Amino acid sequence: MEIIIVDSLEEAGEIEATRLAETIDGNPATVLGLATGSSPLPLYQALRRHVLSGLDMRRVSGFALDEYVGISASDERSYTATIQREVTGPLALDPELVHVPEGGAQDPQQAAVRYEASIKSAGGIDVQILGIGSDGHLGFNEPGSSLASRTRIKTLSQRTREDNARFFATPEEVPRHCITQGLGTIMDARHLLLFAGGRAKAAAIAAALEGPVSSRCPASVIQMHPSATVYVDTAAATEL
Ligand code: GLP
Repeated sequence: MEIIIVDSLEEAGEIEATRLAETIDGNPATVLGLATGSSPLPLYQALRRHVLSGLDMRRVSGFALDEYVGISASDERSYTATIQREVTGPLALDPELVHVPEGGAQDPQQAAVRYEASIKSAGGIDVQILGIGSDGHLGFNEPGSSLASRTRIKTLSQRTREDNARFFATPEEVPRHCITQGLGTIMDARHLLLFAGGRAKAAAIAAALEGPVSSRCPASVIQMHPSATVYVDTAAATEL
C-alpha cells in the first residue's frame, strides 16, 4: 500500500489527477469507481483542469459506490444528482456510461443485484475512488459489514446519518437505507484510491491503515488489496 501524506486534499487532487490523466491517456475506456462526499472533490476539480486542456474522457465509464434508498434520482440530494453535478458534467463524461445504483427502484434488492452484474459486464472497475466515513465505512459499508460482501441494501448507522444530516433540512429526513457496492465488490477493483482529510477522520484512518483487518473498521480491508494508494492530509494523519 502506498500512503502519501499531503498538506491538503487539494495537493492530493493535483498529484492524483496527473496520474489518472496518464492512465486515461493510455486507456481511454478506463472504468472508474466514483465516490461522492467532500474528500474526492479536489481530485474531480483537478481532473477538470486536465479535461479543459485536452484530456478526452468521453469513453471513460463510471460506477458510483452507493445511493440512498427512497430518494428519487431527480432529487438534488440523491447521489445520482450529485454525481451528475460534480463528476459527469464537469468532466464531460458520456451520461450513458455513468451508472448509479437505482435507490428509487420498486425492488431495491433486485436493483443491487443488477448493479453488481453491470459492473461485471463492463469488465470490472479499473480505479476505484474512495472516501472514508468517520466510523471507518467505505461506500456505505458500515462497521460489521462482511469483508466479502457484494452490492446490496444496507441500513445506515446513526453516526453516518448524523454526519450526512448537513445535506438535509432536518436530521429525520436523512434516509435510513442505501444500496452500496460491497467490500468484496470494492476489493475487485484493480486499483484503489482513498482520500482522507481532517481531524475527524484521524481515528478511522489509524484503524484502517494500522489496525487489525476487521469488519469493525470496514476500510481496514484495503490492507489486503495488492494495489492501493491512500492520500491522508496532516490532520487525518495525526493518529498514525
Ligand atoms: C458518505 C459516502 C461515502 C463517503 C463518506 C465520507 O457516507 N457514502 O462514500 O466516503 O460519506 O464523506 P466525506 O468525504 O464528505 O467526508
